[in-house]
Order: sequence, then structure tokens, then C-alpha cells
Amino acid sequence: MQNMADKLLTRYEELKAQVNFHNYRYHVLDVPVISDLEYDRLLNELKKIEADHPDWITSDSPTQRAGARPADRFDKVRHPAPILSLANAFGADDARAWFERVKKLDDRVEKAKFVVEPKIDGLSVVLHYRDGMFVQGATRGDGEVGEDITSNLRTIRAIPLKIPVEAKGPKPPSTFVVRGEAFIPIKEFDELNKKLEEAGEKTYLNPRNTAAGSLRQLDPQLTASRPLTLLVYQIVHSEGGKVPASQWEILEYLKGLGFPVADVAKRFNNLESAIAYTETWNEGRDALTYEADGMVIKIDDLNLAADLGFVGKDPRGAIAFKFPAREVTTTLLGIEVEVGRTGVLTPKAVLEAVEINGVIVKNATLHNFDFIAEKDIRVGDRVLVKRAGEVIPYVIGPVVDARSGKEKTYKPPAKCPACGQAVEHFEGEVAWYCVNAACPAQLLRNVEHFVSRGAMDIVGLGYKIVEQLIEAGLVRDVADLFTLTKDQLLELEGFADKKAENLLKSLEQARAQSLNRLIAALGIHGVGEVMAGDLSRTFGDLSALSKAGAEELQLIEGLGPNIAESIVDWFSQPANQKVLKKLKAAGVWPVAKKDEKKKEGAFTGLTFVVTGTLPTLSRDGVKEFIESNGGKVTDSVSKKTSYLVLGETPGSKLDKAQSLGVKVINEAELKKLASG
Ligand code: IVH
Repeated sequence: MQNMADKLLTRYEELKAQVNFHNYRYHVLDVPVISDLEYDRLLNELKKIEADHPDWITSDSPTQRAGARPADRFDKVRHPAPILSLANAFGADDARAWFERVKKLDDRVEKAKFVVEPKIDGLSVVLHYRDGMFVQGATRGDGEVGEDITSNLRTIRAIPLKIPVEAKGPKPPSTFVVRGEAFIPIKEFDELNKKLEEAGEKTYLNPRNTAAGSLRQLDPQLTASRPLTLLVYQIVHSEGGKVPASQWEILEYLKGLGFPVADVAKRFNNLESAIAYTETWNEGRDALTYEADGMVIKIDDLNLAADLGFVGKDPRGAIAFKFPAREVTTTLLGIEVEVGRTGVLTPKAVLEAVEINGVIVKNATLHNFDFIAEKDIRVGDRVLVKRAGEVIPYVIGPVVDARSGKEKTYKPPAKCPACGQAVEHFEGEVAWYCVNAACPAQLLRNVEHFVSRGAMDIVGLGYKIVEQLIEAGLVRDVADLFTLTKDQLLELEGFADKKAENLLKSLEQARAQSLNRLIAALGIHGVGEVMAGDLSRTFGDLSALSKAGAEELQLIEGLGPNIAESIVDWFSQPANQKVLKKLKAAGVWPVAKKDEKKKEGAFTGLTFVVTGTLPTLSRDGVKEFIESNGGKVTDSVSKKTSYLVLGETPGSKLDKAQSLGVKVINEAELKKLASG
């Protein structure tokens, strides 16, 4: 009997070591050697033994990571040595000046080596090990005394519960205290926010605040649910064993014990190479999986570094080389609304001017009105603004703690700020739209779309000329194009006889454009070229189409309730009716053959969607080919789509088709299909 219990206990010890090891492979090295299934099997076997022998359980068991009960407060922990800070350097010259200063204090600095490490934007934590077992973890606090967050830190799987993790690792000193930075990686942070958003819950502002908040939860279960990890970089204190006296060797040593260590850390023989390396990370910081606000340059010889002493809480032997800030706080003075190219209304933050990364920022995007409501952003708030890389500065959210009570809740406009017409919302979309074709803010892009190649195809009417015509007040809606006179054109800059005559000639030709092109040219939300063709064949002219109700429109295959509503809405606008009247008066009133008898053929009953550029057939060509074989072409992929015809550089339609299981074919296969 005794023998069997002994065996089981040995097995238990073995399982703990194995699970801890695989956990390390996964969370520290990022190279697991067993599948999740095998891992679960080991863990279950371990749990089974623990259920039968609760008295065997030790604190280094992987089952003990999130086992602790909620606390009602955090105890204080006195650090065994001061937890120091760093002086900042803003740029290479600052770093050189630091070097010159310390060189004067000690000749050895001249020949010093340097270690460069990322300065992780997280939370400093101190981990205590006794005889290799993780026994306590604390926050930095004031540098002398921190808070005991052992139960929370235990939930971080990158923290070894027992060192060395690998049997072949070095045996650590009996008392061993290390320091590292706990944080949430960027990808995990984004995923966390996405999940919260999908659940309709409030999202977090940034990884740093979220990590700090998570570690200060009284309930370790909550901490365990946040994707925290850490990197260590310092031995704060040790007794009963030797540790290296060089920063580089410390990093190697910590790695050998099973701690996660920054893999971008490097050692250099002189300061200039260290600076050069640091600067590559300033440009390449987006390649890091975590937020770093700079790099730390450390003198490698730790005895030398210690001899240099401190200035206040900053050791002289290291310096934080800061990257330019990307996030700042400033005051939200107001919210302006812009009417974008598609009629989308976008809120824009008017900010108290602030410098971010060498650029003065006065405006920032607020994404959309839902975003303002979700984040509860109020006018007068201190807001966190981010400007990173090439992206336009954007507001991340309000600093709620900085509120005075005078901030005002924002209400989105009910009317378009440019034309005063009521704004519209389409089912399933976040944006609000101004659908008034004559809205001055949209006029330019409306006319541009109207004259473009896929629409009315008016040659010689480029963006510049459209702008001139609008500025001169000659064009107030698209119908005005057709009443332009030569005298009017001659008054515009750059127009001589020939140019004016040519433009008038192409406008004359445009009168003869087909109804489907005219419908597509109107720019009705959701109506593309294919849909315009269907509408044209079904209704025959614009007056019939303008009288169609939503139900009647939905009889057209592929035309759903949202687009039907958008069409009805467009025709119900008085401004749009006026445009139609003017077009008719100007003789721009094409009529189509109604309900052209559908051809029967190999494709009868099949629906196709085309994406990307095909090798031989043009857009119109492929459509004609499919229709002449009795098939139907629609704009968007749905469950009803029979085939997606794929060309080069396809768009999102391919993803959609694949997710719906729609068959994907190329042009050659399409032709083969047609010939049976
Ligand atoms: S060394 C003597 N190394 O930056 C040791 N600090 O502004 C002084 N930090 O409070 C710290 N990554 O929380 C060091 N690789 C790194 C770091 C790092 C992040 C934080 C740390 C410190 C702050 C200094």
C-alpha cells in the first residue's frame, strides 16, 4: 500500500514539473512541444490526484495559479533593496551628454560596454523566490515599500512558480528577488477590446492602464482573465548563491532559470553602436509585440554601474532613451461634423493645440457617433489622443478622473451641417448619412461620380473643371451640367473656344447614355452598376423607378430591404426630385426596354458575382457573357450566389465567398461551364 502511495506521489511531482515545463514552453518560449490536448490530459491527471490528496498540493502546482480567494486589501511589502527609476534622454545628444558626465566620474566608463533593452510600458513588479519557489510578488510602490499582489502575479503564466524550470538550469541563490515589467501585449489587448465590444461592454483605453488596473484587482480571478505577461531584467537581491556581475550575463542567467527575457536586448562595445541600435527601434517600434516608450541603455559592468551611484532615485549607470510620445492628453474644445465624400457624417474633435511627436495637433478623428456615445466622450473632457506612424491622430477616450462636472454630453446632429437636411441611418451600418444630392458638401463628389467612366462617362470633365464649375456657381446639381453654354465656359480660367466646344460636345453625347448608366450615376447608396442594370430593365424609366415602393423593389433578385429603403429614400428627397425634373427638362431622360426577355442557356437559374480583373473579359464583357447564357450577375456575395468568378487582385468578396462556401472559379472555368 505504502509503495503505491509513494509511486503516486512520485507521479504527482513528475506531473507538476511536466505541466510547468510545457506551460513555460508555451508562455515564455512561445514554442510548445505538445498539443493542447496532451497538455489538458496531463493537467487532468494532476487535478485528479490533487482531488484525492488535497494535502499534497504545493504552491508551485500549476493548478494554484488562480486559486486564491479575493482579498479585501493589499498588504505592504518592504523591498529588500530600493526599486529605482531611470533618468530620461530625449535623443542621441542627451545620451552622449550622459556618457560625458559619467566618464568624468570614473575612467572605466571610457571602455565600458552597454546593454540595450526595450523600455516596456507596463508595470514594474518584484518577484521573490525562496529555495527556487515563488513566494511573494509586489508592486513598485514608492520604491521602498510596495503592495503584496502575490495572488495576482501567480495567475501570470509567464512567471515561473519554481526555478529553474528546466532540470538542467542553474540552481538559484536560496533568497532570490528579481524585477521585471508586467504588461499586456498589443495583439492580446486588441483582441480583448474586440471581445468586449462584441459583448456590448466598455472597452479599455490602452494596454498600460489595463495592465496596471488588472494587477490591482482584489479578485485574482479577474486578473487571471486578462492576457498579462512579463519580461524580467534585474536581480534586485540575492543571498546564498552567486549571480553574475554583468547586465548581459544577468539576462542570460535569468533566461537559463526559465524567466522570460526581452529577445531584442543586445550588448555593444561602445555607446555609439548602442545609440545606433536604439534608433533603429525608434523607427521600428511597431514591430515589437508590446508597447515600448523607449530603450534603456545600461552600462554592462554592474560593479562599475553601482560605483557610479545615484542622482535621487535614478542610478547613474543607466539611462532611458525615450521615443517621442505617441499619446498625450489635451482638452476637447468641441466636436465638428464633416460631410465626407459619400455623404457620411464624421465627427471631428477640435482640440486645445498639443504637440505629439513634433507635430502640433489641433484636430483628431472621433471615428463615428457610436464611438462618442460608447466612450462617453464629453465636450470639455480631457481626452487621450494618439498619433502613431502615418495614421491621422485619433481620440482614444476621456480621462474620466479629470472631470470637473462642467463637461457637456454630446448629441449627434439630426440635420446635415452643410445643407440642413435630416440625416439618415441605414440598417446594419454605424454611419449617419446626408442623402441630399444637392448638399454643397457632397456636390463635388456627386458630380465627380456622375461624370466618371463607370457612370455617364463624360470625357474632358476632370476633377479640376468640376471644381471650377462649382466655384463659379454654374453647377449646383448634376442637371446643371446639361444647360451649360459656351459663353459661360469661356469665362472660366483656361477655357478657350476649342476646349469649351469639346466639353459641350461630350455633354451632348452623354444625353444619349443608357438608363442603367444614368441610374448608376445618381449615386444612390448601395446601387452599383449591376443593380442599376436590373433597375433599368425592371422599370424602364426614372419616373417609374421613382414611384416604386420598397416591396416592389425587393422583387428584384439580390435586392434586399436595406437597398430598397435606400432607393425609396433617395427618390423621396425633394432635392433629388428637383434634379430629376431638371434632367427631364434638359432632355436627359433615357428609356430602357422593359423586362427584356431573359435568355435561356447553360447558366439559367445561376447567379454569379465577379471580383478582380479577369485575363480577357472586361467588366461589361463578362456580364454580357453570363447573361447571354441565361445567368444573372449580382454585386454582392450571398448564400444564393452560385459562383464567384475570380480575377487578379480580388477584394473582400473572396473572403465572403469562402466563408459562405460559395464555389470560386476563374475565367477559363466559367467558359468551360458555359459550353456544358
Ligand atoms: S531598469 C536600476 N529596464 O522604466 C534599474 N527599467 O523609467 C532601473 N522599465 O521604473 C530600471 N523596461 O518600470 C529598466 N528594461 C528595463 C525596463 C525598465 C521598463 C521601466 C521600469 C522603471 C521605468 C523607469
